[in-house]
Amino acid sequence: QIPEVKLHDGLNLPVIGLGTYTLNGDEGATAIQRAIDENGYRLIDSAYNYENEGTVGEAVKRISVPREELRITSKLPGRYQTYDKATKTIQESLYRAHLDYYDLYLIHWPNPKKDHYVEAWQALIDAKKQGLIRSIGVCNFLPDHLERLEKETGEKPSINQVELHPYFNQEHQRKWHEENGIQTESWSPLGHGNDILQQRTIQQIADRHQKSAAQVVLRWHYQVGSIAIPKSSNPDRQLENISIFDFSLDNAEINSISAMTKPNGRINDQDPAIYEEF
Ligand code: A2P
Repeated sequence: QIPEVKLHDGLNLPVIGLGTYTLNGDEGATAIQRAIDENGYRLIDSAYNYENEGTVGEAVKRISVPREELRITSKLPGRYQTYDKATKTIQESLYRAHLDYYDLYLIHWPNPKKDHYVEAWQALIDAKKQGLIRSIGVCNFLPDHLERLEKETGEKPSINQVELHPYFNQEHQRKWHEENGIQTESWSPLGHGNDILQQRTIQQIADRHQKSAAQVVLRWHYQVGSIAIPKSSNPDRQLENISIFDFSLDNAEINSISAMTKPNGRINDQDPAIYEEF
């Protein structure tokens, strides 16, 4: 059984989910189906921009797990942030996935220069009232952006999904979320193929616990309080990534992993304060 967290709006989510970026088509649907049916995943992360909402929908059609056990996520692209476009896009996301509702729907990037994210947020609030979404959140929002949402609409996000891994540990942002009742979720929790998993610090801890490097990193996410959504197309690695609940890191180990963070540790230069496209 996977531990769960309760969001401020009452929805519970497992602390490990499946990232699906680049999982597309029939092969993608099979990978997602196996994650759910064989490997115990219940939280699935997708996005309009990944062009795989239909793939997720196809997997959901094939699985034997009841819909209400799943937590299916999608995200509103930056280019559809006016109120009307956001409202339409939510309907389109549902249509693409053949779903009646999303469990979680997030604004993908704040795009602060265009400054439409507050009206996009209002569209998410209204879609939630209509029963199209159970829980609403954001991605890549900085504290200023988050504060504005609550100030201008009276409703704060349940989740902020941000880039988070040992090279970019987001200590300040995580603390801010904690103080403000917003759940942190980590995208690219394993560093998206950079060399985190090969680092000596991780390898030594992995040897000590007889776990894989990926398991150590995902356990670190869990113990610092973030939901991790590692992507894997491979059933063995999917199972490995969700099997992190039979060991525990001590404070020294947590601290040494957190200390791997570095100023240029981002996977790319998608600084949410300026990033405009996605
Ligand atoms: P694959 O899909 O072949 O398993 P992130 O979620 O941080 O973006 O990382 C995703 C990348 O990490 C993918 O390339 C994925 O490849 C790889 N990956 C996922 N799980 C593991 C694992 N347990 N060990 C090594 N690589 C992994």
